[in-house]
Amino acid sequence: MLSRYQINTKMRIISVFLFILIIINIIKADFVPNERTRSKKSIDFNDVLKQPAFRMPRSFKPYNYELEIHPYTINDTFRGRVQIFGAWTSDGSRIKLDADHSLHIIHVHVECLSPNNTKPMEVAGIAQYEHNDKKPEFNIDLEQWFTIGRKCKLDINYTGNITSSESYGLFTNSFLDTKHEMQRTIVSTFIATHLRLDNARKLFPCINEPEYKATFQLIVTRPKHMICRANTPVYRTVEVPGNSNLMRDIFERTPPMSTYQLAFAIFDFKSISPTLLVNPIEGQSPLEVKVWGRKDFLSSLEKVPNKVVTIMNYLQNYFNYSIGLSKLDLVAMPMYGATRASDNWGLMFFKESELSSPLIWNTVYELIYQWIGQHVTPYRWSDAQINKALNSFLASKITVDIDPNEMEGKWPMTLLYSLYYEFGKTLPFSRVAGIRHEATSAKIELVFRMFNYTLGEKVFQKGVQKFIHESAKNHSFYGNDIFNYLDTVRKENNITLPNDLTISSIAAPWINRDRVPIVTVNRDYETGNINLTQAVFLREPRPTSNEKMSYQWDIPITITSQNNLNFSQLQPALWLSKNDLTTTHKDPASKDKFIIVNPEEIGMFPVNYDLCNWNLLSEFLQGPQREIIPALTRAKLLHDAWNIAYAGNICFKVALNMTLFLKNETSHVVWEPFFTMIDHVGRKIQVLGHVYPTFEAYVFSLLEPLYKNQLGETPQTDEPSWKTHMRGLAKNFLCRAGYRPCIKEAKEQYKKWMEDNEPDKGNPVANEYICPVFRWGTMEEWEFGLQRAINFPKNTERKQNERTYLLKTLAGCPLDQRKIERLLNVTILDQNSNFTDSDIQLIYSTLSGSTTGTVILFDFLVRHWTITKEAFGKKEHLWNGIINSATSFSTQEGYDRVSQLYEDRQKKGDSVAAVLGDIMVDLEEKVNWHNENLPAIGNWLNSHVKKRPSALMTLSTES
Ligand SMILES: *[C@@H]1O[C@H](CO)[C@@H](O)[C@H](O)[C@H]1NC(C)=O
Ligand SMILES: *[C@@H]1O[C@H](CO)[C@@H](O)[C@H](O)[C@H]1NC(C)=O
Ligand SMILES: *[C@@H]1O[C@H](CO)[C@@H](O)[C@H](O)[C@H]1NC(C)=O
Ligand SMILES: *[C@@H]1O[C@H](CO)[C@@H](O)[C@H](O)[C@H]1NC(C)=O
Repeated sequence: MLSRYQINTKMRIISVFLFILIIINIIKADFVPNERTRSKKSIDFNDVLKQPAFRMPRSFKPYNYELEIHPYTINDTFRGRVQIFGAWTSDGSRIKLDADHSLHIIHVHVECLSPNNTKPMEVAGIAQYEHNDKKPEFNIDLEQWFTIGRKCKLDINYTGNITSSESYGLFTNSFLDTKHEMQRTIVSTFIATHLRLDNARKLFPCINEPEYKATFQLIVTRPKHMICRANTPVYRTVEVPGNSNLMRDIFERTPPMSTYQLAFAIFDFKSISPTLLVNPIEGQSPLEVKVWGRKDFLSSLEKVPNKVVTIMNYLQNYFNYSIGLSKLDLVAMPMYGATRASDNWGLMFFKESELSSPLIWNTVYELIYQWIGQHVTPYRWSDAQINKALNSFLASKITVDIDPNEMEGKWPMTLLYSLYYEFGKTLPFSRVAGIRHEATSAKIELVFRMFNYTLGEKVFQKGVQKFIHESAKNHSFYGNDIFNYLDTVRKENNITLPNDLTISSIAAPWINRDRVPIVTVNRDYETGNINLTQAVFLREPRPTSNEKMSYQWDIPITITSQNNLNFSQLQPALWLSKNDLTTTHKDPASKDKFIIVNPEEIGMFPVNYDLCNWNLLSEFLQGPQREIIPALTRAKLLHDAWNIAYAGNICFKVALNMTLFLKNETSHVVWEPFFTMIDHVGRKIQVLGHVYPTFEAYVFSLLEPLYKNQLGETPQTDEPSWKTHMRGLAKNFLCRAGYRPCIKEAKEQYKKWMEDNEPDKGNPVANEYICPVFRWGTMEEWEFGLQRAINFPKNTERKQNERTYLLKTLAGCPLDQRKIERLLNVTILDQNSNFTDSDIQLIYSTLSGSTTGTVILFDFLVRHWTITKEAFGKKEHLWNGIINSATSFSTQEGYDRVSQLYEDRQKKGDSVAAVLGDIMVDLEEKVNWHNENLPAIGNWLNSHVKKRPSALMTLSTES
């Protein structure tokens, strides 16, 4: 069975984002095995971005296509004929069409009406037609000059190719099916289209741009025993003259649509109909829903039709609109290779596992496209991002309404916290630019969520309805339209915004910037006023570059007071305007009661408070009534405190006080982000050998009750997926911290490998056990691992990434000096030829993830400078990499070491001095962070942890 995460596209989208963040962490010597990392599918949005921004000038606009397709599966080709009815939109004599080079044009014939379109069609002379060699364009030059408004009909005969290597254009695929009558397995073949984004030109010459909408009359020839489905129902079927094995399906004319929306499929699948009915709407007969799949798979789809009807009824009701067609087919496509479901109007193609999944988010998300994305479509591809974000928001909101358990309370937390981390960086997206587009969609989705709160659900819904109803008049919308309609509806409902703000003017800064604000709340307990200030949120040092950091936003300020803890009325009390850095508001709470600003993450921003309010919050959260504050808000308070402390805006004592309530916390929603924070802060603290074990001991005291009582040490069947995930996170931390039961288990598993007669044939130990053994196990155990890396068979089926994992853990896990020195001896002094340059790079950068590693590497480098430089100095990239790893300190002591080396090297005229000089500049920032924060962390931990619990191993005595 597939894991829930693999099935759920929502999670997939988030995970692509997280995946990359996590990958970065893994490279930085983090070994958290996160189940989200399994999913690597991207969505097709990056394809959208490849679309040319300019549009070709065209003088001829089609309004109807009559398209005949006759596929030949014997040789994977098809014969096509398209009759394009259109009109001149400007004067001219050239008609520009899009046609892929795989289309072979056989014959072109043009007929036109007289100037004022009165007389019957007359043949128009063609001067020439040509298929552009370089571009997929087909131009027809007519002998005559045509004036605006004149109508013509193009009639083009051509052939084309069916692809079997991918699921784009007109494609074919085969699968094995059982014929039950004979109990034989036979190969079954099907043909289908996937024309999104610009693949329509692989099927027929056309104008392949979304705004060129036309009606389609489709005629498809198919074998008699198969079925053809298209956007609209079959209007008539006729036998092909002279061939009684072939039938020709003539489909009803479609409403106006873009070329990419056209779809058909020829297959011998079976269908299931729902027992529930889609409610009739707008006086039409009810939508006919059918779910299709190959016969052997049909039983997995049994529950799908009624699920679809339930969702369709919800959506119809929410939008107060039908999809604009009389039928909807959902097809489970065997071996479907497209990155996401193909949401053609009236005919949707899914991966089998995707359609059969019992989860609803993905089905809701894809079905929403029947309205927003099919019934009405983005005017240009650049408007598609808003479309995606709106659908994603609606899908999440609706999923929470239909089945609150599915999102496990994590929406929108996962999305949002990733954004806080990325936007809080000195240079967002500097490491992985590819996630910027994912992040932008996530941002827009959260902006919709913000308006859903600030306008209220009912008004927001009316805005979406108006958007669809109005856009349907032209079948298309621009990205900004949704904001404008929300604003119209806002005014109609007398919701006022200060300073002539509009929904669109509020949204723009939130969407356009890769930053979020932080709001600082200072309560003046004497006057009873609250002072609110906005600034750009940064977790890392301010960029030195020329990025303007004076951004401001219009920020909805919702305030909940302890005097009246109501989390259902969350409309903003005021807006902090983008023209104001700061504003004052009456404090709704009495002096001894706390306030919470931005509960439930209504806006995308962290909130800082005065110390007194933080203390009030911390105390309340440790009390019996803490669950009056919803889990998402509890998570936010904790998360904000830590991130703000991390950023240096409050002292760590406050953040650590905010963790005290975790002893009693049972909600995974609160716990889950905490693991990321342990990781971030832990990394910083690791550099101080004496503080880190205390930190581990403290976290252990919080985690132990959760792990033992809440989660249970062993997985239960049918437990929710968050539980499995949390147990993994908890166990991972515990193992790394030296939790005895875990180390024992790991060693036992590892022993199997050590006792294997042929240990280089394969590794019987699960990855999760390897790091604990290398960290807490004996020298012999570690050495055994090293030998496995050295003797790792080359050119075998065993994957090299197994070896990479081994190298990373060998270098990144141990804290024991002897292990690390041994690794350096083997790779540098012995110059063991089994280690390539990239191995060395990997080992050293991993080593530098811990201070022990960095110190040893640095000392080693200094001690063996000549020999090391001789070995690697000529390879500039590698050498600089080694220098960078060896100097990745963050304490004053480390800085002094580097500074000493710098002077030494400079005296000797070594060019490496320049590199060291740059490194020292960066080091200064880190050293400052430590000087400012670590004493406070150390003191706080010392006063809260008596001694390292005996359940945890200690390095000095037992390694
Ligand atoms: C493919 O097969 C069809 C039917 O036999 C035939 O008419 C057509 O010419 C063939 N095409 C090619 C490129 O061989
Ligand atoms: C289309 O198919 C024909 C015949 O199989 C082949 O010769 C031709 O190269 C193909 N064209 C493209 C663009 O794949
Ligand atoms: C159509 O155009 C012709 C010639 O351009 C003109 O003589 C005729 O009156 C027009 N007919 C109408 C109905 O406008
Ligand atoms: C074009 O195709 C149609 C239908 O397939 C056919 O009737 C007609 O004869 C073809 N014309 C030419 C010139 O090939």
